[in-house]
Amino acid sequence: MKKEILKSFGNFYKKKVGKLYPNELALRTFLGKNKFLSLDKKKIKNKKILDLGYGDGRNLEFFYKIGMETHGLEISKEIISKTKKNLKNKKIKYHKGFCQKTNLKKDTFDFIFADCVFMYLRSTKDNMITSLNESYRILKKNGYLFCVVVNKKSTILKDAKKIKNNIYLISNDPLNIRNKILYYAYEKLSDLQKDLKRSKFQKFKIFKSDIDYYGTRKFHYIVLLKKY
Ligand SMILES: C[S@@+](CC[C@H](N)C(=O)[O-])C[C@H]1O[C@@H](n2cnc3c(N)ncnc32)[C@H](O)[C@@H]1O
Repeated sequence: MKKEILKSFGNFYKKKVGKLYPNELALRTFLGKNKFLSLDKKKIKNKKILDLGYGDGRNLEFFYKIGMETHGLEISKEIISKTKKNLKNKKIKYHKGFCQKTNLKKDTFDFIFADCVFMYLRSTKDNMITSLNESYRILKKNGYLFCVVVNKKSTILKDAKKIKNNIYLISNDPLNIRNKILYYAYEKLSDLQKDLKRSKFQKFKIFKSDIDYYGTRKFHYIVLLKKY
């Protein structure tokens, strides 16, 4: 299964990347003023962030520009060298690993940003708690984890086969990238709450985001967690 992930995302990122723009969640997380999260410049400056499963790297340059020591993690050497070539920013640091096992040192990061990553499993032995606990380990005390997880009603899960609790095999990916990949999704908010309570994080807040982009439904939960 690990092979399937490497192949599908590896092939996807081989394509020409072009100009990149940070996504809305990154902008709102670090520049927004919200009831439950307002990070001012002082809280961000020179802080260490890990963009876990950074994809095409759309948020890396943004994190760097707002003054953070920026680290990105991806699953293969090929994806990383493509990003390095594309961004040409020697200050950004790269790591190869998986969200379930990063191989990074404990108590390292002030922030971890994991947008639509924890759902990708290496095997049916992985689950959400494996990834949450790995992030907890590499976060510093008082560090934040921002992560996005998926509700089963999202379009990507259409026709997906249930393998076991919360684990599905994708077969009808609208982007045709992730077919035959294991995917972790929630049917109920209470199942997400259970996973979060079983993890090492003691405090969390869940925010619902359910958007239909012209027929592609992305029903996500944005989760804010802190290591105490
Ligand atoms: C849907 S993309 C999200 C990319 C980026 N976070 C964003 O929001 O644009 C998922 C990314 O996670 C990476 N990935 C897949 N399985 C992973 C795993 N087990 N651990 C870490 N990253 C993984 C993929 O290579 C891919 O780049």
